[in-house]
Amino acid sequence: MASTTPQYVTQDTEGSQSSLQEMAKRHLWMHFTRMSAYADAEVPILVKGEGCYVFDEHGKRYLDGLSALFCVNAGHGRAEIADAMAEQAKELAFFTNWSYAHPRAVELAARVAGLAPGDLNRVFFTSGGSEAVESALKLCRTFHKRNGEAGRYKLIAREIAYHGTTMGALTATGIPDLRAPFEPLAPGGHHVPNTNSYRWPEGRDPLWAADAIEDKILFEGPETVSCVILEPVQNAGGCFVPQEGYWQRVREICDKHGVLLISDEVICSWGRLGHYFGAERFGYQPDIITTAKGLTSAYSPMGAVIASDRVAEPFMNGTGMFVHGLTFGGHPVSAAAALANLDIFEREDLCGHVLAHEDEFQGMLQGLRDIPIVGDARGAGYFGAIELVKDRETKESFSAEESETLLRGYLSGALYENGLICRADDRGDPVIQLSPPLIAGSEEIAEIERVLRLVLTEASNRMTSN
Ligand SMILES: Cc1ncc(COP(=O)(O)O)c(C=O)c1O
Repeated sequence: MASTTPQYVTQDTEGSQSSLQEMAKRHLWMHFTRMSAYADAEVPILVKGEGCYVFDEHGKRYLDGLSALFCVNAGHGRAEIADAMAEQAKELAFFTNWSYAHPRAVELAARVAGLAPGDLNRVFFTSGGSEAVESALKLCRTFHKRNGEAGRYKLIAREIAYHGTTMGALTATGIPDLRAPFEPLAPGGHHVPNTNSYRWPEGRDPLWAADAIEDKILFEGPETVSCVILEPVQNAGGCFVPQEGYWQRVREICDKHGVLLISDEVICSWGRLGHYFGAERFGYQPDIITTAKGLTSAYSPMGAVIASDRVAEPFMNGTGMFVHGLTFGGHPVSAAAALANLDIFEREDLCGHVLAHEDEFQGMLQGLRDIPIVGDARGAGYFGAIELVKDRETKESFSAEESETLLRGYLSGALYENGLICRADDRGDPVIQLSPPLIAGSEEIAEIERVLRLVLTEASNRMTSN
């Protein structure tokens, strides 16, 4: 019988491990998770974090090589962020940004605008990344309407890119398996090749992927295109770093055709690439940046749309208004967390730390190329991926069935059992993704290497013996 009351029977008031497991299995609906996988296995329940490490309910320690999904950039267990949140909750736990302001949202907006490149001076807060993307896509459409170009509603994004799950953001997401169950989506999503050059034919023009954006704009009709949305380094598919000059060419194309350029930095901002924003790393000026995750180091949920003066201008005068809002956008406790987080960034120069260690981190990934199933290693800053292949010579990828055996059947579990949290992902070709907290140093990099080498070598042996 369906019920809204708890079904678990173990009434252990101290919340023992077994009752937590039972409750998790019976009631918790985990995201993007095959729940059946836990029918006969423990749900991984993490209870505590300290620096680069987290601990499960049994007290076992794990190196968080993924920053809890590209989030905890300043590291776990920062009491000063928690204290700032508690102080704020005591002073003013909540007030909305719908027609009201409060000090922390104002201070944070000014601080983010000060750090953002060029004239990205207007900050619209959201509760997370999908909402930031959703808001940015709506902003672009309404911007064009206010400028008398109501026909511009299409977006151009890249194949295999992930931009979130809300219906608008999903239109930008270029992963067929994530789109198909929910079709029809909002109209106007179009996709172009990404910058993954691993299997490009020799001699291909390095700006081929950038030029594909112009081809698509021309094909669709420039007067129908609202925006281009791209990540500085595309995460899904495994850290696709842009070719030299890619972003400059994309900027040129957008300007030529009156299309707005959104840099989706939900992952690539706040030090992930060694700069506050990915746009700085590659030297381009977007019209809009979307961000989330590392803004608060995920101590509290928060995202933001950072718009240029030009994009914001039509909504700042007379009866102009961005007819869009979210109750929790600019939440005071999240804003306090973000301010405390940015204090840490400045005091400890976390961006500088990443730049100082990125060669070591990326070099470690490159060093794994001697393992037979490692086909490619790529990335920038503290953001990296290893692509796994069946045959290094031909670059042949694993079949869907082999990926299933390799990633779900072995790798994910083995990495975790060996104390490393990272992500085995097959949304494109199978990859292992890494993004350690920005405080990670030589010791943590060596530990990541040790576990990866052990598990990937065993995976290689299993695949060749099959
Ligand atoms: C580039 C990018 N955009 C948008 C999102 C969606 O963010 P959220 O999961 O906070 O809704 C993500 C999430 O990983 C992302 O990586």
